[in-house]
Amino acid sequence: APRPTPADKFSFGLWTVGWQARDPFGDATRPELDAVEAVHRLAELGAYGITFHDDDLIPFGADAATRDQHIARFRKALDETGLVVPMVTTNLFTHPIFKDGGFTSNDRDVRRYALRKVLRQVDLAAELGASTFVMWGGREGSEYDLAKDVRAALDRYREAVDLLTQYSIDKGYNLRFALEPKPNEPRGDILLPTIGHALGFISQLAHPELVGLNPEVGHEQMAGLNYAHGIAQALWQGKLFHLDLNGQRGIKYDQDLVFGHGDLMNAFALVDLLENGGPNGGPTYDGPRHFDYKPSRTEDMDGVWASAAANMSTYLLLKERAAAFRADPEVVEALAASKVGDLNTPTLGAGEGYDEFLADRSAFEDVDVDAVAARGFAFVRLNQLAVEHLLGAR
Ligand code: GCO
Ligand code: MN
Ligand code: MN
Ligand code: MN
Repeated sequence: APRPTPADKFSFGLWTVGWQARDPFGDATRPELDAVEAVHRLAELGAYGITFHDDDLIPFGADAATRDQHIARFRKALDETGLVVPMVTTNLFTHPIFKDGGFTSNDRDVRRYALRKVLRQVDLAAELGASTFVMWGGREGSEYDLAKDVRAALDRYREAVDLLTQYSIDKGYNLRFALEPKPNEPRGDILLPTIGHALGFISQLAHPELVGLNPEVGHEQMAGLNYAHGIAQALWQGKLFHLDLNGQRGIKYDQDLVFGHGDLMNAFALVDLLENGGPNGGPTYDGPRHFDYKPSRTEDMDGVWASAAANMSTYLLLKERAAAFRADPEVVEALAASKVGDLNTPTLGAGEGYDEFLADRSAFEDVDVDAVAARGFAFVRLNQLAVEHLLGAR
């Protein structure tokens, strides 16, 4: 398998390799992982970045001196390894105070506390040189429809995001904020449940240009949606600020499997889109390839590092396979036969308005509808070529 290097821009959440595998039904199966060790191990494996929630690095409620100590140790590990912190995020879901959410809790005291907690983490993000601040509203939601005024909750959500963007502007931080959609878990229903909902929300903000998305593979798939399509729309709208790669098998609890260990075909399409989907076949996204997965509860610490490496090697293998797919003359021919490139041609001619269009009999009156309807698109052949490349058969 190909070996990752920092140029591949792979990053991991501290909470991923650090997950002790405590779940709603069982205790931790692994020891605590020191952040300094995580930095060193990830660097050895070829990653370039590490990300964290405030509470991953600094225990909730720690005093200022303890906080400074944790940050100093972490910084030292970064300096020793060259690992960077491209993204920072915030935890508004673990502590019981956030049981009804942070920015959108019905309790105003909680909302004010949550905002202060996040402002402090925004300062730390800037201090560590992060360019993206991710917000996953894990507890922003409800179990009971009548217990949450959703329109008021969205007002409060907007109020919070508007304060954060203004703060970042005024402080000269240059941060971009990335909202992470998820349909449910831990709440019965989470606000901004999908890429589409979040894009709609962003259009209502004071600084929409500073707010984009951090879509996660499994979260869209939990809603039965096509992740590669969602990413394509986020790119189309200039909103793909960051992304969380992992694996999920269907509409069920959030599995956070290794990237590619869920819907492998969709992962192939995604990597092809990210690496080769640009207008001239180039990359569409140059940000971190960030993994937000959970090493399964069955794994020991060796298994944790093996699974971290697996994310990166799967990505690189898919990248290789996608390049081979694009370079295959039979694929080039199949893409043409399927008219995939033709979709780039505008439907109207240059300078054609509706008057000329309505006068064009070849567009309507003279169309042999049965003959056009009879044309096949040969999509299945194209997809089989993709499968054969994916399986290493070509
Ligand atoms: C989840 C989410 C989180 C977020 C993280 C970053 O657990 O379902 O994916 O892991 O990505 O909180 O904000
Ligand atoms: Mn997840
Ligand atoms: Mn995530
Ligand atoms: Mn996650």
